[in-house]
Amino acid sequence: MTDHQFTHQHQHQHEMTNSHLLAHEFDYYAPASLAEAVALLNEHDGRARLLAGGTNLVIWMKMEQLAPACVVDVGRIPGLDAVRPSDGGLTIGALTKIRALRNAPVVQSAYSALSEACAAFGSTQIQSMGTLGGNVCNGSPASDTVPALVAFGAQVALVGPAGERTLPVEKFLLGPGRVALESGELLTEVRLPRPQPGTGSAFIKLSRVAADLAKASAAAVIVREGDRVVDCRLAFGSVGPTVMRAPAAEALLRGQPFSPELALKAGEAASEAVSPIDDVRSTAWYRREVVKALTHDALVTAWARADESGSLGAWETVGEPVESRGAFHVLRGEQREITLTVNGVTHRLAVRPNELLLNVLRERLHLTGAKYGCGIGECGACTVWLDDQPALACLTLAVAADGSQVTTVEGLQGPNGELDPLQEAFIEHAAFQCGYCTPGMLMMTRKLLDEIPSPTEDDVRDQLKGNRCRCTGYASIVRAVQSCAK
Ligand SMILES: Cc1cc2nc3c(=O)[nH]c(=O)nc-3n(C[C@H](O)[C@H](O)[C@H](O)COP(=O)(O)OP(=O)(O)OC[C@H]3O[C@@H](n4cnc5c(N)ncnc54)[C@H](O)[C@@H]3O)c2cc1C
Ligand code: FES
Ligand code: FES
Repeated sequence: MTDHQFTHQHQHQHEMTNSHLLAHEFDYYAPASLAEAVALLNEHDGRARLLAGGTNLVIWMKMEQLAPACVVDVGRIPGLDAVRPSDGGLTIGALTKIRALRNAPVVQSAYSALSEACAAFGSTQIQSMGTLGGNVCNGSPASDTVPALVAFGAQVALVGPAGERTLPVEKFLLGPGRVALESGELLTEVRLPRPQPGTGSAFIKLSRVAADLAKASAAAVIVREGDRVVDCRLAFGSVGPTVMRAPAAEALLRGQPFSPELALKAGEAASEAVSPIDDVRSTAWYRREVVKALTHDALVTAWARADESGSLGAWETVGEPVESRGAFHVLRGEQREITLTVNGVTHRLAVRPNELLLNVLRERLHLTGAKYGCGIGECGACTVWLDDQPALACLTLAVAADGSQVTTVEGLQGPNGELDPLQEAFIEHAAFQCGYCTPGMLMMTRKLLDEIPSPTEDDVRDQLKGNRCRCTGYASIVRAVQSCAK
């Protein structure tokens, strides 16, 4: 270590508050291709964890629930985030962000249940960071996209040292947190079959608050011919060790004329089929009861949506394709010089694998607008824009942000320090409440106004569902944002 490095590190440790650290140390690998990623996972078998959006993995490491010796970041491998039509259906790359899927016209029109599952997902920031592949590989029975994927009969494509294999999503799920990934394998794509003519679908989630995991969820895909149900698939989240189907309930519907009464009977059969538990979010009894209503409501909605076309509708590219930075790695304890362009100014900084973007912004660049609140993705106080998308700096590895553009609340000001009109509106409408949460709220609502120039109250509240206020509430914030509407 050079004197300069030592002084720098020493000073850094001195300034650092320990509350928002990622204490665990690991070797960080950023492969540039799928083949390199497979080789790395194979070489470090049992010691490596793949990193996609990090909204699960970084939290597990922070909370010391996982301590992988090495982290293989596949977030910049080009091609894994593509969404394309294939074999008449839709192929979704594992790195596709939940938010991009939510907004994709093809998903909204042909796979409504999946689009609804993505809209019901966590917060806007978590949707912008989290990937479809991460949601499936997380193996949680509460993973929101999974009931929709199971109900549509989706397959996963897995690539490993022995080549590619495919599995139905249903068979990929083994138990809570357990999926059928073999050593050296990663999930590359999710493949959805083309919906048959007359298909309608719906997803409904019940949770304690908007940005929370499900107490229970249901996805229904129904195929309609006249007044009859030709086919039906039902899948449920958070009511068993994995996402579950209810074959007896599906059998009740097949070939029968549809009615709300029949949907309720199917709900009763589904309620018998699930095996929920008591936990912090709900009781087994409540979950079993609510499955009846969720099944009924999802079926009635799916039935009403079923049409004869089976069309994949308008086709548009989903999300921004990722750009490779070229392969590199940083061993634990070592540093790598990264380039960050923050609020238009380019910085070169040496960072260790486990340094978080939030620490770098606050303690190295002295940009203290982004705040540390919870440190685990729940409060939104640390929100910045990373390559123009909302991101939680408390869950972003600085090394993974190499080459990115970052905007913090300080960057909303004009060149002479003049406030953004939205900042002025926050002051005028007394939306500048505790002050601590305000930068995160501004970053989210400025982004909303850029995307939807005249947002409704529901748009504002949905955008802010991951920005927690416990002092005053959201009424004046909504007023301030709407006063800026074009
Ligand atoms: C505040 C908060 C709210 C949340 N709300 C919801 C919610 O409402 N609904 C919901 O379903 N989830 C929710 N989550 C969980 C999480 O955001 C999702 O599971 C997300 O989709 C994970 O994707 P990721 O890319 O961030 O995964 P990562 O954290 O990068 O990875 C998750 C796991 O999957 C593995 N993995 C990732 N990609 C692959 C791949 N391609 N191949 C093989 N293995 C892979 C990783 O090694 C890791 O074990 C929430 C999380 C937070 C912090
Ligand atoms: S500090 Fe990042 S979400 Fe709370
Ligand atoms: S705005 Fe910070 S707690 Fe309400």
